[in-house]
Amino acid sequence: MALPPLKSSFIYDGCKNPEKSQQNFQEIISKAPNNSEWFAFSDLYEYQGFWFTPKFLEGTILAQEQFKPQLNDIILCSYPRTGTTWLKSLSFAIINRSNSDSLINPVNPLHSVMPHDCVPFLEVDLFQQKTIKYYPKIPLLATHLPYSSLPQPVIDSTCKLVYICRDPKDVFVSLWHFLGNVKGKETNTDEFSLQKGFDLFCNGVSLHGPYWDHVLGYWRASLEWPEKIFFIKYEDLKKKTSIHVKRLAEFMGYPFSLDEQREGVVEKIIEMCDFNNLRNLEVNKKGEYAIFESVVVQNQKYFRKGEVGDWKNYLSADMQERLNCIVDQKLQGSGLTLC
Ligand code: A3P
Repeated sequence: MALPPLKSSFIYDGCKNPEKSQQNFQEIISKAPNNSEWFAFSDLYEYQGFWFTPKFLEGTILAQEQFKPQLNDIILCSYPRTGTTWLKSLSFAIINRSNSDSLINPVNPLHSVMPHDCVPFLEVDLFQQKTIKYYPKIPLLATHLPYSSLPQPVIDSTCKLVYICRDPKDVFVSLWHFLGNVKGKETNTDEFSLQKGFDLFCNGVSLHGPYWDHVLGYWRASLEWPEKIFFIKYEDLKKKTSIHVKRLAEFMGYPFSLDEQREGVVEKIIEMCDFNNLRNLEVNKKGEYAIFESVVVQNQKYFRKGEVGDWKNYLSADMQERLNCIVDQKLQGSGLTLC
């Protein structure tokens, strides 16, 4: 199997001018509109039309100032809780398949390393001085940045982007559970009511929100540059996993050969990245992932239910209608539906 050479863009030799970057960050954050209502997690600051925590904002500004992708980089883009972990696992397994003796071999990194420790986040891992667990030299990165906030060299270069999105109702429910469990300012989900979080989400005030603007940025760009941006919905990936995994591999430049397809390689990758398989691995049941040094999450929080439509167990009919209306209105004329 002849796959493109593996070369990582994860060659970062430190911030070029840390004092200047820090000054720039301090200046931006001191002027940014602030919201402290997501008290369960962190204050949010508005920057370029989206909401960031201070740490994410710092990393974003550094990435915008300094990141230059390699020509063959692939960047997995997403709003949090839309399927990032799954997409990272699948993409990692697709690209790394020639490096592993066997996909079911326990030496395969995904068996012992949390997916987020296999694929670094651009605005988090590349620019923070945190302990790096395991990043193999493959040209794969991830980001939660909105399209309009991506570093300009990413837009200008030939590197490819993959974007995953999801029904906003499931995104909200998943986010609410997740933020309530992050070891931030507060740790108790009960104290951060569903209604309060829902109102904020509907008002566009959520981590990396407004959600619909995040999706629309990538959607429009994918229509304009389909060869650069691969756009997929979580629900479609769930429904027809095999078809979309093959499309994804093809887009990324790592297509499955006929022999591989005959040998069941696609199915093995899907099986390995299956929700229940990943969730039941020791590393994902017991381990912890440090988003930042001060924000640590149990790996199991990344594998909650993995279902389509879990929102029905949490949102009232009124809430459903309210969010559907907002999203329908925002997406009107775009050719995209999410609800
Ligand atoms: P739920 O909270 O609805 O269960 P992200 O990785 O972007 O943070 O998204 C997390 C969501 O994706 C969670 O949704 C999580 O359970 C689900 N998820 C994680 N791994 C998955 C997998 N392998 N297959 C399907 N869904 C997965």
